[in-house]
Amino acid sequence: MIAQNDGQLRYDEQNEQLFTPVPKVRHIPAGARESLTSRRHSCRPALEENGRTIWNKHHMGTIIAEHGTVKYVVKGATYYVKENFAPSVQVFKAELHPRRWKGIPETFFSNGPVEKLVSILGLGRCNMVTVKLASDMELTPEEKEELTRLVGPTFYFSRSAQDYTLDRLPFDDPELATGYQTAFDILVRNWDDGEANMALVEGVPVWFDFGVSLDPRCQNVYRFIMKLEEARRLGRVSTIVSYFMDYTRRRSQILKRAVQSLQRIQQTEIRTAVRLSNVQIPAYFAEYVSHGLSNLLEDIDIIRGAFLRENVERRQTYIKNITV
Ligand SMILES: Nc1ncnc2c1ncn2[C@@H]1O[C@H](COP(=O)(O)OP(=O)(O)OP(=O)(O)O)[C@@H](O)[C@H]1O
Ligand SMILES: [Mg+2]
Repeated sequence: MIAQNDGQLRYDEQNEQLFTPVPKVRHIPAGARESLTSRRHSCRPALEENGRTIWNKHHMGTIIAEHGTVKYVVKGATYYVKENFAPSVQVFKAELHPRRWKGIPETFFSNGPVEKLVSILGLGRCNMVTVKLASDMELTPEEKEELTRLVGPTFYFSRSAQDYTLDRLPFDDPELATGYQTAFDILVRNWDDGEANMALVEGVPVWFDFGVSLDPRCQNVYRFIMKLEEARRLGRVSTIVSYFMDYTRRRSQILKRAVQSLQRIQQTEIRTAVRLSNVQIPAYFAEYVSHGLSNLLEDIDIIRGAFLRENVERRQTYIKNITV
């Protein structure tokens, strides 16, 4: 999972894992090359239909639109298809006049490359779903057209949490899964990781929807705490907040191990993840993650202090007193 040699790390879209390729040295006897090539061709039959040639007809998926969501089922996998919105605009604030920075609304946003980056980093470390871009999916022109009509001009794919079984997830213990997710979500500043963006697989949480992650504004830990607190008051309680509100000795030990595991992420892996995800300004996001890793322990301490139950309650009493 962790890159050992520079630049060698690859992402296997099919099996959804990072790997370091081992160069294959194969001896192909003379004459065999011909049959290999023709076999490859025979796997991709061209079907003639109404005068059109359709490649890979048997790879086409099924599009399901129901209850306001659009799903795409292909090769036994189900994906939620989401509209791809521009990344948090303040990444580009340098391009705006400072007077206009304040007017930028802090809305929920979903950006395929940001979600994909977060999902690659969490792969094998947390109970998180895989995210793919449209370019990863081998969509037919017909499918593209239909998804554009249903979802929006650009879209991406979030693997359904229900596709996962315990043997495909790093953790089968709910508290361990939650502790590692807490550390990870502090790293990527994902404050929207509460029950709305989590599903239970045999009683074990699996997280999806990392759309609010890596917001430039939340790089500042106090700004991130304000976001967590605002969401809590609106009833969208983050996993981070609930983890600290009922803090125990076991939770503290889990968190320590989670930090150690995350801090083993190498620069090469960050660079690979950033490159594969297609985020705009890759250097910015790589820096965001490496900076977050160096500050992780300290950030966790500060956030824990803000959300220990007694502190949350004290804050509530204080607010009640000053508002009556
Ligand atoms: N990868 C996924 N696995 C399982 N369910 C999903 C997944 N992605 C989306 N959903 C389901 O679709 C619903 C809508 O998700 P979406 O992320 O598109 O909307 P949202 O604006 O984030 O809404 P929400 O308030 O529910 O988070 C979710 O509440 C969830 O039930
Ligand atoms: Mg959601």
